[in-house]
Amino acid sequence: MTRKRIGVLLSGRGSNFEALADSIAAGRIPDAEISIVISNREDAPGLRRAAARLIPVRVIPSKGLEREAYDRLVVAALNKARVDLVCLAGFMRLLSPHFIAAFRGRILNIHPSLLPAFPGLEAQRQALEYGVKFSGCTVHFVDENLDAGPIVAQAIVPIQPGDTEETLAARILVEEHRIYTEAVRLVLSGKFRIEGRTVLPSAPSKEDEDKKHKREERLTGRAKQR
Ligand code: GRF
Repeated sequence: MTRKRIGVLLSGRGSNFEALADSIAAGRIPDAEISIVISNREDAPGLRRAAARLIPVRVIPSKGLEREAYDRLVVAALNKARVDLVCLAGFMRLLSPHFIAAFRGRILNIHPSLLPAFPGLEAQRQALEYGVKFSGCTVHFVDENLDAGPIVAQAIVPIQPGDTEETLAARILVEEHRIYTEAVRLVLSGKFRIEGRTVLPSAPSKEDEDKKHKREERLTGRAKQR
């Protein structure tokens, strides 16, 4: 089976990238590889983490370029790497319509709040300032609007008394790493459908059902023999 190729875009630390790479290595995301990591910032620590894993990295600086001109360079690099799925992992840029069209339905983002609450920057700070009792994180498909595409996975993180932006962010990050893996596994498996805005696991295929019946027959057959 050919492995599905993931392109990761990041601008900073890269812990979500690393969580995905670990999940692939551990078989939690089967038949996949991270084929390229691209950053707009050459000082992004995530690039070093990728290079240490011998994953090809590319820096594409954005200075002096219009949004679409920049995105054309990134899309070309992703296409050259024959990427099937793009995972944004702390990529601090908005994507142009050109980018979205080039990978429509094949771009995921992770956001540190329960969308649609607190989109945009400093989501953890927004949650604390608003005084919510629960926050969390969201993996969603990326469309033309900010932090707004269909939701693939979410996790709830309760706010604790005395939480600061840092303590809350740290607890949310643990959940980010877990649900990004789940979301990527689901999307790469293709076993989902989108109804309106809702991402649903798709009904098992006839092939899956046949396999299940055969398995059950084998088991009951064995039980009878005993
Ligand atoms: C995460 O909190 C993610 O939700 C947000 O940016 C941060 C990236 O962290 N989009 P890291 O670089 O993956 O560690």
